[in-house]
Amino acid sequence: MNTQHPDASGDDGDEARAELPVAVADETRIAALNRLLAARDRTIEVLIKRLEGRGGEDPSAFALLEQNIALEAVVSRKTRELDRERQQLSDALAELRSTQARLLQSQKMEAIGRLAAGVAHEINTPIQYVSDNVSFLRSAFDTLLKVVDQHLTLLEAAHAGAVPEAQLQAAESSLKAARLDYLRRNVPDAFEESLEGLGRVSGIVTAMKRFSHPSGEDMEPVDLADLINTTVTVARNEWKYVAELETLFDDALPKVPCFRDEISQVVLNLIVNAAHAIGDVVLAAPGSKGRIMISTHVVAEHAEIRIADTGGGIPESIRASVFDPFFTTKPVGKGTGQGLAMAYATVVEKHHGLLDFETVPGDGTTFIIQLPLRGAEPAPEEGGA
Ligand SMILES: Nc1ncnc2c1ncn2[C@@H]1O[C@H](COP(=O)(O)OP(=O)(O)OP(=O)(O)O)[C@@H](O)[C@H]1O
Ligand SMILES: [Mg+2]
Repeated sequence: MNTQHPDASGDDGDEARAELPVAVADETRIAALNRLLAARDRTIEVLIKRLEGRGGEDPSAFALLEQNIALEAVVSRKTRELDRERQQLSDALAELRSTQARLLQSQKMEAIGRLAAGVAHEINTPIQYVSDNVSFLRSAFDTLLKVVDQHLTLLEAAHAGAVPEAQLQAAESSLKAARLDYLRRNVPDAFEESLEGLGRVSGIVTAMKRFSHPSGEDMEPVDLADLINTTVTVARNEWKYVAELETLFDDALPKVPCFRDEISQVVLNLIVNAAHAIGDVVLAAPGSKGRIMISTHVVAEHAEIRIADTGGGIPESIRASVFDPFFTTKPVGKGTGQGLAMAYATVVEKHHGLLDFETVPGDGTTFIIQLPLRGAEPAPEEGGA
């Protein structure tokens, strides 16, 4: 078990800092600005003390006045500087927030782009059989209409008092041709299958809409089971060829305050990682499938999501690096090494939760997310300059 903070590899200097996730870079910059402000505050405090302390000395009244005026000028200059710096700090903060929001949105759009092909494929299968069924139902309806028409003619003749033998035979042969028994057996199934297919399509479209809908400015109470089901649906094409996926949700888990789309993205990253890890194992045993198990739990003051896979596990030698930005063991085109760094920034830094993993080489890996049930309250040691 291991959790490595992304900035733990300290000896890479500027290069490593350049690769820090935005949230870490933001914090460093904000901390530096805060220190600057604190130093300014201290300078002003000292100047004010000196100004007040002058009363105790006994130089000539004129010299004292001159000194006081000079000090007041310094204090007012320093105050103006301080105001300017405060403004700069708040502008920088606003800019950083919007950059971070844009970055997260662009990561999400990238994921949606990648999922789109899979989603189209997922929709294509039910659409195919719905359209086959509708063709069958149309021809069944045509056949039945012919039977009805023949029988209407027969009815008219019966009302007129004489039914010609030819019309009777025509009605009978239309009934025979319609193969009513066959239609009775198959038409209800065709309706049933079509409705089921349309239900699947609308489920996928709803999931995609929910997944891509941006969260608001504030955290909202989120049903994690619903969030996980949505993410599993949009990511189906990523895991279905290599694994069975099961979910087990704790009914006692209340809604969890979080940024819905960001946590969905984290769950997606972990599902894709699990599928890739299983994919590597399954490749060696064609035809076999692995298993992804996603469960939720209440653990003390936290909501916990566990995503367990039956992949090859994480080798000891790389456990300390997996959360580092751009660390990947995958070939170009399959991974860029941003999934876990992004998950760490979202869960730990933004939601003040925990992200950890347990792994057994050869058996698999379980990633564990914990989110505070009372929302992302800052840790007590934070907030000081
Ligand atoms: N469930 C897992 N089982 C085994 N190894 C894993 C698992 N999850 C992550 N890893 C290892 O951690 C590395 C980093 O994962 P991360 O998600 O950050 O990047 P990636 O999957 O390689 O690329 P990206 O997520 O950007 O497409 C992976 O390349 C892989 O070696
Ligand atoms: Mg990944």
